[in-house]
Amino acid sequence: MRTAAVTAVGHFLPEERLTNADLEEMVDTSDEWIRKRTGIRERRILRDPEKATSYMATRAAEELLDKRGIGAGELDAIIVGTVTPDMFYPATACLVQTELGAARAFGYDLSAACSGFLYALGAGAGHVAGGQCEKVLVIGADKMSSIVDYTDRSTCILFGDGAGAVLLEPAGAVGAEGRGLHDLHQRVDGSEWENLCQPGGGSRRPPTHQSVDRRDHFLKQNGRPVFKQATRRMAEASLEVMQRNDLTPEDVDYLVPHQANRRIIEATAQQMNLPPEKAMMNIGDYGNTTAATIPLCLHDWEPELRAGDRLILTTFGGGYTWGAGLLEWAYDDASIDN
Ligand code: UT7
Repeated sequence: MRTAAVTAVGHFLPEERLTNADLEEMVDTSDEWIRKRTGIRERRILRDPEKATSYMATRAAEELLDKRGIGAGELDAIIVGTVTPDMFYPATACLVQTELGAARAFGYDLSAACSGFLYALGAGAGHVAGGQCEKVLVIGADKMSSIVDYTDRSTCILFGDGAGAVLLEPAGAVGAEGRGLHDLHQRVDGSEWENLCQPGGGSRRPPTHQSVDRRDHFLKQNGRPVFKQATRRMAEASLEVMQRNDLTPEDVDYLVPHQANRRIIEATAQQMNLPPEKAMMNIGDYGNTTAATIPLCLHDWEPELRAGDRLILTTFGGGYTWGAGLLEWAYDDASIDN
């Protein structure tokens, strides 16, 4: 069976920064509380109302195509993990396809909240491994500022906007035989869905004047139980992947965790017996960008990654959705050498 390797990474972050000091002006909070409880210093916000998730996803994709030195016409598929699509339909992937000019690609959106990127990576790797596709663009992108209630101090301090993208190709086609996505463990449990959701706007509570007055169209979170589950499930899934691939903590070069809270990341690394410096962490600069957190980590650490490095990717999000994967990195520095 063919393995799918990551052969390029792209990203997009809006320029505007929303700092803890800015939030102090908006809700009853403090820089000290936010830093201590979450590790976040600032987040990026895409203020322009004309620009939505597809804009950020397309910019991330363009950077990736440029680095890989290929045209959009070579893409076979585009998968966008997001909970903030431009619209319910058409899929954001269709808007990205047309903006890029990816003439022969098919595409779809994948809704798995913060796990959107990892699930999309699994779906994309399946298209490659099954022989259906040679080049799959996998994007995690969210304009969280479009669904965050900036009067709710328990959530508005957490989230930011951004996009990250990877290209998947058969490892054998790029001289990286045996590297790529080796394993993926995924789970969902809907029994506590109300702890993290956007209750309004869908077919259960279609938008009405009343639903808007009730602020049903904004993200709601009951933070404490989500925190507890995230800490438990990310470690559990990562340990499962380590165990079934016979990996010791020394064999793992990096943990690439979803960035929801510094304390969750540290607890996950600790339960895996990994030193904290092996855990990628950029939550301080971007906050929680939902589906974009993992590819944004891959982007920020890309210059340090070496061919053969073993990465455990792990995530937890609304649904609940969670999982972990083993990705063997395919190239050195900033691009694959072919
Ligand atoms: O990405 C998807 C998955 N999401 C997550 O994994 C998020 C998981 N949850 C968390 O990260 C944390 O639960 C939060 C950061 C959201 C909250 O931290 P916490 O330590 O769980 O705080 P808490 O909700 O238990 O609240 C503690 C206190 C409360 O006051 P009282 O009731 O003790 O008087 C809150 O009202 O902190 C208060 N509080 C705040 N104070 C200042 C809540 N938000 C704020 C705030 N500023 N922004």
